[in-house]
Amino acid sequence: MAKETVRGRDVTIHFDGQRCIHSRNCVLLHPDVFVPNVPGEWIHPDAVSPEEVALVARACPSGAITYERTDGGPQEPAPLVNQVRTREDGPLAFRATLRIAGEDAGFRATLCRCGLSKDKPYCDGSHATGGFVASGERAPQESQPLAMRDGGLDVEPQKNGPLHVIGNLEVVTGTGHTVDRTTETWLCRCGHSGNKPFCDGSHAKVGFQADGI
Ligand code: SF4
Ligand code: FES
Repeated sequence: MAKETVRGRDVTIHFDGQRCIHSRNCVLLHPDVFVPNVPGEWIHPDAVSPEEVALVARACPSGAITYERTDGGPQEPAPLVNQVRTREDGPLAFRATLRIAGEDAGFRATLCRCGLSKDKPYCDGSHATGGFVASGERAPQESQPLAMRDGGLDVEPQKNGPLHVIGNLEVVTGTGHTVDRTTETWLCRCGHSGNKPFCDGSHAKVGFQADGI
């Protein structure tokens, strides 16, 4: 799906269809701005205030929706707390000032953790068609509060292996419980770890193949 840019009076909306994981936050929160299943233009920035556009864009977990205020209002702020959430039977949802595979990647991204995406490291929805089953919940492990909770986060997909994540990060379950607080970790992206969301080396046993560093 192509990238779209729609300019409104006070705010411009960018939509990257390839990044969208169809969580439908946008069409459920603001069906007047994001109008699905219609012929022609489906994004209407002027239907609500630019503040509301900003809120709905920031609720998009994948980063498919971004915005630019053109009325002098504030642009999207960096997250105050870097986090990765494990979505039930779905991807890893990051919020941070992201660099992914060495490239600036905005403040929000959903990355594949089932191993099936054809657009790795990004999620392309294959977890649903592939029948991936993985809890979004798990028991916490011992961790101490971080000295800083924000800052840049580097996500480096390892060749045939996990996501190496460097920077302040809180690992959070789908329902918001903190699992770990770390400055460096390795997250499973092959779908086979027995210790999800962390890598336990299973990628080697199952012969996982993916581009990486
Ligand atoms: S991922 Fe973003 S753009 Fe896609 S449906 Fe969800 S909120 Fe909308
Ligand atoms: S990437 Fe899945 S166990 Fe290492």
